Amino acid sequence: MDALQIFPHLNGFLNLTSGLFLASGFVFILRRKIHAHRFCMLAATIISSIFVVSYLTHHALLTYAYGLGPTRFTGEGLARPIYFTILLSHTILAAGIGPFVIITLYHALKGNFAKHRKIARLVMPVWLYVSVTGFTVYMMLYHFYPSR
Ligand code: HEM
Repeated sequence: MDALQIFPHLNGFLNLTSGLFLASGFVFILRRKIHAHRFCMLAATIISSIFVVSYLTHHALLTYAYGLGPTRFTGEGLARPIYFTILLSHTILAAGIGPFVIITLYHALKGNFAKHRKIARLVMPVWLYVSVTGFTVYMMLYHFYPSR
């Protein structure tokens, strides 16, 4: 396996790990465990940021260094509309959520918890959706329907 082929698995792993921190952070705040919530949410943010860098590096290498397009989805029949619906909703939400995560974090770190809670109640489900669908796309593309 060459360096380029490691990226999808690294990205899938980062996505899953950040999703697990997100879900744990949510459970902790529901139980009023603020320190554990803070730790998990900061970990999820850092891991997601590393994911974005790794994802962009992978696509830049594929496009500019190797002259390759995006990985083709080889599933057939019902798997195709399912895959592309998940991919489209994932991509749109993933592209838009970054600034909202920063605002949510900003209010929390400033101790502005009323504002934090208000926006976080929207950001949390969307971020969880992006995380779960990101891992689903990875599993479908590289494990359930691999191109070779
Ligand atoms: C982007 C990262 C974060 C997200 C998405 C997030 C998400 C949430 C959510 C969904 C709630 C509301 C739970 C409910 O419905 O009762 C909440 C509450 C809270 N979060 Fe965060 N959180 C984040 C980062 C942080 C950080 C870094 C801290 C630092 C201390 C923090 C402290 C709190 C506190 C104290 C509450 C309770 C607020 C209240 O009930 O008035 N959060 N968070």
